Amino acid sequence: MSSHIEDRDVPQHRDVAVLVPAAGQGLRLGGGVPKALRELAGQPLLVHACARLAQAPSVALIVVAAPADQVDAVRELLPDATVVPGGATRQQSVANALAAVPAGIDIVLVHDAARALTPPELVESVAAAVRAGHDAVIPVLPVVDTVKRVDATGAVLETVDRAALRVVQTPQGFRRGVLAKAHAEAASEHTDDAGMVERLGLPVYCVPGSDHALKITRPLDLAIAAALLSL
Ligand code: CTP
Ligand code: MG
Repeated sequence: MSSHIEDRDVPQHRDVAVLVPAAGQGLRLGGGVPKALRELAGQPLLVHACARLAQAPSVALIVVAAPADQVDAVRELLPDATVVPGGATRQQSVANALAAVPAGIDIVLVHDAARALTPPELVESVAAAVRAGHDAVIPVLPVVDTVKRVDATGAVLETVDRAALRVVQTPQGFRRGVLAKAHAEAASEHTDDAGMVERLGLPVYCVPGSDHALKITRPLDLAIAAALLSL
């Protein structure tokens, strides 16, 4: 991915809303506060994430789904964002944020607050792919480890061909109507939004992801993120 945003990729006007699910508890990271409010280099992860989203030339609006008891605190942290209460699951949090997107915005990205260091260039490249006609777009990375399928006892069943596998990141980008239909028709919980679009039988398109878009999940990830900031 290029390290800067090319003029030809920048839209005529800001035409994208980004939904930021940020209402999780962060149980794997620990620390006793919701993960989005955990600090990295003196700022909450959510503030890092939204600052980078706001630097993307396409982004017109950021809608944050905050922990229900932190809505006022998050509004103070992010005066330029729309802040709504999140739900019991990531999927519900995204649905709550989607409901707050005003009419007239036709491209919607969904971006985990936990991917706090995602570069604006990746946001722009996902938005550009939707604008170019792909109704659902995901950033992906190749799998670096060997992957095996195992059974419940820990016995190996097979080695999977990793060349055909990808690790999936956010932001994921959608034509608004496709994301709305996916949420309206979802019968079960999904860990990402593109998975719901796949269930509709609609195509999902991949663009190259970024190592900087790692999801801060466990304590080691926070240390990696701190190291990335100091590069
Ligand atoms: N999320 C959300 N609402 C929920 C659960 C998760 O908005 N009910 C958000 C998280 O805040 C995070 C993103 O979805 O930005 C990805 O979830 P994950 O990394 O699993 O975060 P947590 O659920 O907070 O972490 P954990 O699963 O370790 O508790
Ligand atoms: Mg979670």
